[in-house]
Amino acid sequence: MLTVTQPPVESSLAGIARALVADGRGILAADESLPTIEKRFRTIDVESTEEARRSYRELLFTAPDVEQYISGVILFDGTTHQVDASGTPLVDVLTARGIIPGVKVDRGAKPLAGSPRETVTEGLDGLRERLHDYHERGLRFTKWRAVIAIGDGLPTPYCIRANADALARYAALSQEEGLVPIVEPEVLIDGDHTIERCYDVTEATLHYVFDVLHQHRVDLDAMLLKPNMVLSGKSCPDQATVEVVADMTVRCLLHSVPAAIPGIVFLSGGQTSEQATERLSAMNARAPEVPWQLSFSYGRALQEAPLNAWRGDPANTEAAQRALCHRARLNGAARYGRYEPEMEGEFEAAPGGAAA
Ligand code: 13P
Repeated sequence: MLTVTQPPVESSLAGIARALVADGRGILAADESLPTIEKRFRTIDVESTEEARRSYRELLFTAPDVEQYISGVILFDGTTHQVDASGTPLVDVLTARGIIPGVKVDRGAKPLAGSPRETVTEGLDGLRERLHDYHERGLRFTKWRAVIAIGDGLPTPYCIRANADALARYAALSQEEGLVPIVEPEVLIDGDHTIERCYDVTEATLHYVFDVLHQHRVDLDAMLLKPNMVLSGKSCPDQATVEVVADMTVRCLLHSVPAAIPGIVFLSGGQTSEQATERLSAMNARAPEVPWQLSFSYGRALQEAPLNAWRGDPANTEAAQRALCHRARLNGAARYGRYEPEMEGEFEAAPGGAAA
């Protein structure tokens, strides 16, 4: 009799993609570049030294029970080379806890030649070799962020196309090297545009991105999409309600994202931590039948609370870890559409680790 041997789920690319969006869990984006982490640390009066970055990120990665809600962590290249006090690479610390380590592989958004108010994300040169090295060192997924700004006459189709082309080349190379790509076309929240305008730009961007991903033969089963939610511009006087955000985001995705994608992991992109959780929860509660998992890959919305609890003082490590776990648990609840704003208070009511 012919026996077909399936690879273990977690070792196939599609299996890793599915594991990253497993029930009740989501991704922590801790991949701030050096200038960005410096900016974050400045808000708590901490100097961004190599050691400060190491201890802060080690604190996040080793928070007790965080693996119940966090499936994967996106690292910055520098962090992939750091080790804990016992000399164990932080990448291996994550893997040992059942958290899948990933890495941001783009080299940032740079002015777009011919359209200087827009950017294109760079980092394709030498990417194949870098990806190979990451895979050898235990990283299992990657991320590339493209940035689309809304403004007077923006975005141009040229900007969307240039960024989509780079995203697709990156995604194809990642899969070739055995790494799950997280394709992140971020339509920025900045500006006074309406939610309808954000909807149109997001839909046009996603259509283009998936067209080019198809041309580049990217396996949809083995990738994740990391989009913005469809939102009113940050300075738009008319701010959409949580229900409108949830419904318009889901509608936009249904119109533009193939059903084969295992998961959609939103960025928080300048929403408050509470907004990011509440809106994700509303989507899962109001649209339980969508073909993909709707999950999170938050940076600021997961880190704001622990960063403020930590403030660079080792004595605050446990408080910061509890703050991260609390936020991660609330977002875990949002995966099931079960977040309620009243759950925010449970943390203050029960310090000492009982944020569960
Ligand atoms: P934010 O959630 O802070 O937007 O960060 C997510 C991210 O990875 C941006 O590239």
